Amino acid sequence: MAIQQTILITGGAGFIGSHLTRLFVIKYPDQKIVNLDKLTYAGNLENLVDIEGAPNYTFVKGDITDIDLLKQLFEQYHFTGVLHCAAESHVDRSISDPLSFVKTNVLGTVSLLQTAKEYWKDDLANKLFYHISTDEVYGSLGEEGFFTEETRYDPRSPYSASKASSDHFVRAFYHTYKLPVIISNCSNNYGPYHFPEKLIPLCINNILQKKPLPVYGKGENVRDWLYVEDHVKAIDIIFHKGKIGETYNIGGHNEWKNIDIIKELCRQMDEKLGRQKGESEKLITFVKDRAGHDLRYAIDATKLKEELGWQPSLQFEEGLGKTIDWYIANTKWMEDITTGNYQRYYEEQYEKR
Ligand code: NAD
Ligand code: DAU
Repeated sequence: MAIQQTILITGGAGFIGSHLTRLFVIKYPDQKIVNLDKLTYAGNLENLVDIEGAPNYTFVKGDITDIDLLKQLFEQYHFTGVLHCAAESHVDRSISDPLSFVKTNVLGTVSLLQTAKEYWKDDLANKLFYHISTDEVYGSLGEEGFFTEETRYDPRSPYSASKASSDHFVRAFYHTYKLPVIISNCSNNYGPYHFPEKLIPLCINNILQKKPLPVYGKGENVRDWLYVEDHVKAIDIIFHKGKIGETYNIGGHNEWKNIDIIKELCRQMDEKLGRQKGESEKLITFVKDRAGHDLRYAIDATKLKEELGWQPSLQFEEGLGKTIDWYIANTKWMEDITTGNYQRYYEEQYEKR
């Protein structure tokens, strides 16, 4: 099939990036997808084994802060679209190492913006720089209310501050240079290939291993959870039908206190693993709270629903069930991560070729 256009996905070997890459590679066989990923601890090519041989897919190992590499890739592939997913994404890591978040999330985003601007400057028609961002830029809610696209930015962790900064740069390139951009800000994702440093996969893994389930503080913090495939479907719709210069909030309308999610995981897993009712709940262990822990996130996704017709397809209990089933069926994926084996995959697959 003749390739019509080439899209750069950054961070395609990560959690959301791998679902996004898979969706685009399979759904758009006449488009070439180039996945640029540094393969940090969070990047795992095993997430993409099912599509790595697809004729419209290419993987490039590299850093989004490497401007020379970015220029070379734009020259080589003539990208018409960028789906920018690469980031340092874990709040706890940003608390212990804020600078690496500034480097990748701010400097990396500006490097990409600058390269796209230079490469596209003579013809901005039919180009799009899509920046994937987070609801954490809006700060923390009290017990009431929702984040809308108009909510004032109020980031409170080094992670969210770096994402907020990158969002501001994206808008600055739109206003200053007319670079065609779109931003979406999404709530917490969950699903297969989620790195086990994050709450849901960490608890699934620990329940499987009968290890303690660490609950920060009292477990009263609330997050709005969305199945990752629903997120990437929203990105697909916004990428193709969204309005240049706009921001779209994406969320699940699905708020859960951390402690209730953990109990639901325990309940479903006891059933699936044939354990006694209440057995896994005994693993719950309250630990020191996260510094500056945001109390509540909740997205109002009305704009996306009314303007582009998107809404989440899965109920949470069902999505959580599918997620647990995936982790139970893919213990090798988890083993490779926890032993560090997954980082050898690149060498075996690519460097020995
Ligand atoms: P992730 O940590 O699972 O994956 C990040 C990917 O980016 C990895 O493959 C990593 O190797 C790559 N990467 C990191 N630094 C890089 C660099 N300098 N150059 C090239 N590649 C690099 O992250 P995720 O959870 O999939 O999040 C993806 C994006 O979605 C991020 O921008 C994040 O802020 C945003 N987001 C995540 C969530 C969520 O719940 N996970 C929700 C809303 C928005
Ligand atoms: O809201 C979107 C954001 O969601 C994304 O932008 C981030 O990239 C993503 O990591 C996620 O951030 P959170 O901090 O909300 O996710 P995390 O899984 O780290 O934590 C979820 C909640 O669970 C949070 O209130 C902290 C708590 N928690 C987390 C861990 C890892 C625990 O109680 N125990 C834990 O061990």
